[in-house]
Amino acid sequence: MKTKITELFGIKYPIILSGMSWISTPELVAAVANAGGLGILATGILKPEETREYIQRTRTLTKRPFAANVTLYFPGSEKNAKVIINEKVPVVNYALGKGDWICREVHAYGGKVIATVTTLKHALAAQRDGADALIVTGHEAAGHGGAVTSMVLVPSIVDEVKLPVIAAGGFADGRGLAAALALGAEGISMGTRFMNSVESPVHASQKENSSKCDVYNTVYTNKVDGLPARFMKTRGSVHLMNKRLNPLSALFQSRKIAKLLGFPWLKLAIGILLMGFRKSLQMARMAIGFEAFKVGTIDGDNVRGVLPIGQITGIIHDTPTVKQIIERISKEAKDANKVLTSKL
Ligand SMILES: Cc1cc2nc3c(=O)[nH]c(=O)nc-3n(C[C@H](O)[C@H](O)[C@H](O)COP(=O)(O)O)c2cc1C
Repeated sequence: MKTKITELFGIKYPIILSGMSWISTPELVAAVANAGGLGILATGILKPEETREYIQRTRTLTKRPFAANVTLYFPGSEKNAKVIINEKVPVVNYALGKGDWICREVHAYGGKVIATVTTLKHALAAQRDGADALIVTGHEAAGHGGAVTSMVLVPSIVDEVKLPVIAAGGFADGRGLAAALALGAEGISMGTRFMNSVESPVHASQKENSSKCDVYNTVYTNKVDGLPARFMKTRGSVHLMNKRLNPLSALFQSRKIAKLLGFPWLKLAIGILLMGFRKSLQMARMAIGFEAFKVGTIDGDNVRGVLPIGQITGIIHDTPTVKQIIERISKEAKDANKVLTSKL
């Protein structure tokens, strides 16, 4: 397959593994790279020294290009970005923040930058800031998809930017890849599909749950981690949606976030006190959400925890290897093309 994305990153298939905390580990990233796609290593919940270790471990598992992500909204994320840059990771993916300095520093060593966006405003900002490609995430997606569905969001952004677009949110098979290319995208990025693969470290029960879900088994809410996001509809996610918080809980919860990210607690607590009512509530939800993601992902507990999942889970009914997923998508996309050609 040949698209602007395969050319830009030197990969065989325009298929990308999204950066998913606790899931997009060196093993899963390397499996995707070795199968000819591009894996994005998730560093959102890692301390800087863990980020370095994960990057080095990925390099022992694959000689192919890979990416690492940084979520600029998280406290202390700049330190992770610095590690990724010092390690000269071939592709850097940033989200939820201004990445002009990341583009400058990554380009200085010959790397490429992908910005993840959910709106045209942020797509244009990323283009101005020097990104080489965009991941455009629609409403169907697991986690923080935008307000607009991929079917509408992707062509609306493709029409307005010069950068190659990677469509995310609602893709799991070759029909989806062919549709994304028809909408003007140059590739797809998938979370839910790769989460349910043999190599994925998510708890086995969640792979089974994901295989059984239909397209209605998700909720989209800002009450779990403070930003609008999609999760599996479970007792855990419904409980968090109904949970009332007061700003003081942000201070209590901030200890957990600081510990998880290796960030000085006092600095975070002072930051929260200065944030004002709305932002500090958001911070409290983020801390609770972090804990709940971990329990949902690692322990497979859908009562105390939550699992981000996309609507596309409704058409996923098996747990293949990463290689099988990628090769199957490639074949299905070619079959879809033949069907289209005969119909058009
Ligand atoms: C289990 C799971 C965990 C995720 N964790 C994160 C995360 O930590 N950070 C993030 O930016 N996106 C996260 N996502 C969202 C993906 O990066 C991606 O945007 C989304 O999965 C794409 O839509 P799809 O699920 O329809 O393929 C997660 C997705 C899943 C399925």
